[in-house]
Parts: sequence; structure tokens; C-alpha cells
Amino acid sequence: MLDAASKAFFQTLSYNAILKKLASRYGMSGPQAFARRFIAGETVDDAIAALRAIQEQGLHSTLDYLGESVTSLAAAENAAREYVGLVEAVDRAGVERNLSLKLTQLGLDVDRAICVDNLRRILRAAGRCGFFVRIDMESSAHTDATLDIFETVWKLGDRGVGVVLQSCLYRSEKDFERVNALGARIRLVKGAYREPRNVAYQQKSDVDAAYMRLARRLLTEGTHPAIATHDVEILDEVKRFAAERDIARDGFEFQMLYGIRRDLQNALRDEGYRMRVYVPFGREWFPYFMRRLGERPANVAFVLRSLFAER
Ligand code: FDA
Repeated sequence: MLDAASKAFFQTLSYNAILKKLASRYGMSGPQAFARRFIAGETVDDAIAALRAIQEQGLHSTLDYLGESVTSLAAAENAAREYVGLVEAVDRAGVERNLSLKLTQLGLDVDRAICVDNLRRILRAAGRCGFFVRIDMESSAHTDATLDIFETVWKLGDRGVGVVLQSCLYRSEKDFERVNALGARIRLVKGAYREPRNVAYQQKSDVDAAYMRLARRLLTEGTHPAIATHDVEILDEVKRFAAERDIARDGFEFQMLYGIRRDLQNALRDEGYRMRVYVPFGREWFPYFMRRLGERPANVAFVLRSLFAER
């Protein structure tokens, strides 16, 4: 299946150090700047400018300081410090207070207890300034740990925090029940990682069908449901279902990625739905960028066109 093969191919390339170096040199600045379409920039100022522009268009945002899979405690602590600084900068700037983060950026693969400490430091700062923090979901190797840590901080009293479930995983229905029983907020996605067949659906049609099954439950049973997809058929189905059930247009939200289907983002806003844009920024943009290429091979043509365009 092309879909799965292309995800696997780009996931493998995302570990390639030479490619990463080349992309880092040319992707974000200069005339090519091919990654700028999907990444808001490398600095906090770039990120805040992007949030401001999104706000001015009547859209909502969630800000992701890019980074993942850190292999040292120092890097994890540094990421937590950067996030705390980011919370303060966003607070000062007066733009929307909503963050997304990854636990492997905070040391999940190095030391789980330190990862929890790092997360709690960020949640404390975020809580003081009225932020909502979404814990992104990474590959299935991290699902158990991510949900366990989420539940730990929830039980310790943090409430301004939510998680993500992926419809590609067989387990997500059970995970939905576990998270929903807490009354916590769920963002539903299809899943961006190449997963083996013993844990995940391999056919797009099965992933899509599971998405709609979960979306219906999320919309009727969930707390602040977040429907994160660019799939037009699913968007139409969700809109139809919500209307049938008399769920108000602001009773849930749609979410999409920065630079992807901006036409749909604006159209949904114009129809009166809440639309949140996921805004990634930072120097560690390469793995995120490669996942976006893997989702849609046409993006490769876009990158190549930028590289070979006349200057
Ligand atoms: P699908 O891949 O079927 O695409 C449907 C259509 O959308 C395509 O035909 C195309 O038009 C458009 N499209 C999709 N991807 C595109 C791209 N890269 N470039 C251009 N067009 C594209 N995943 C995860 O595993 N953990 C997470 O925490 C998150 N978080 C997250 C937050 C938000 C706000 C969004 C929107 C997505 C995520 N994801 C994620 C990513 C998600 O799992 C999934 O990989 C992408 O959203 C692409 O899948 P779609 O649902 O859009 O459908």
C-alpha cells in the first residue's frame, strides 16, 4: 500500500544525518526555504508572529516547540526550560495560550521520572498563565507510557492538560474509555507514524472507519472534543453527525496543521466552526517535516519546485 510504504520511507529518511544537515542549511532561510510552508520559523519571535497572524484571521492556535527523541537528561531539561521561557514569552505577547508537546522531548526515553518532573514544571508555569497543554501522541512504542504519565499528572491535580488518540491503533477504543472516564480532553488524529500490523490498521479505509467510530463517541461523550484531520470526507461526515445530534458548532473544534489546507481552515471558520491551527516552530523541525512529506508525496514535488525555482 503506497500510503504505508511512503510513511515508512520518509520515517527512515528522517533518521538520516546528512539529509538533516542539508535540509537544516537550506530549508528555513534563503530563496528556497521549502520548509517555511509547514514550519512557522526557528525562533520564539517567528512563532509569536505566526500566532498573531492566525489570531487576526479569526482562527485558534496551539504552539509546538519542535523536538523529540532526546537521548540525554541535559537535553530534556533544556527543552523543559525552553518551554517555560516560551510560556512566559507568549503570556507577555498576549497571544493565544495553548501548547502542544511531546514527552520524548522531555526525556521519556531516558528517565521516566525526570520526564514527569519536566512535564510538571511546564504545567506549573502554564497553569499560572492560564494555558492549555496538549500532550501529543508519538509512536505506539510510547502509547502506554504517554497515557500513564498523562494519568499521573491528572491525578496529581493538573487539569489544563489533554492527550491525543490515534485511530490507526486497534487499542484506541479502549484508551478512549480510559481517558474519557477522567473527563479529560482528547484530540483525535489518524496517526502519523508507521506502525506494524499487529498494533495498527494498514489500510486507509480501516483507519478512516475507525476515525469516524471514535469521532462519533468523542462528539457525544467527550469533553471539548478536538477533531484533527484534513480529510474532507471525514469533515463532512462529522459536520453531518453533529448537526443531526444538535451539537452546537462551537461545542467541539476542528484542528489542522500549519500550512496544510488553509482553504479548508478558512472555510470552516466562515461556517462558524472553531478551527485550531497546530503551529510548529524551532530548530529541530526535520523529523516533523519528513512526516508531512510522507503523508502526501505531492509535497515532495512542492519541495523540489522550491529548490529548483529560479532565484
Ligand atoms: P489523510 O492523511 O488521509 O489526508 C487527507 C487529506 O488531507 C489529503 O488527501 C490531503 O489533501 C490532506 N493532507 C494530509 N496530510 C497532508 C500533508 N502533509 N500535506 C498536504 N496535505 C495533506 N499525529 C500523531 O501521530 N500524533 C499527534 O499528536 C498528532 N497531532 C496532530 C495535531 C493536529 C492538529 C493535526 C491536524 C494532526 C496531528 N497528527 C498527529 C497528524 C495526523 O495523525 C495525520 O498524520 C495527519 O493529520 C494527516 O492525516 P489526515 O487526517 O489529514 O488524513
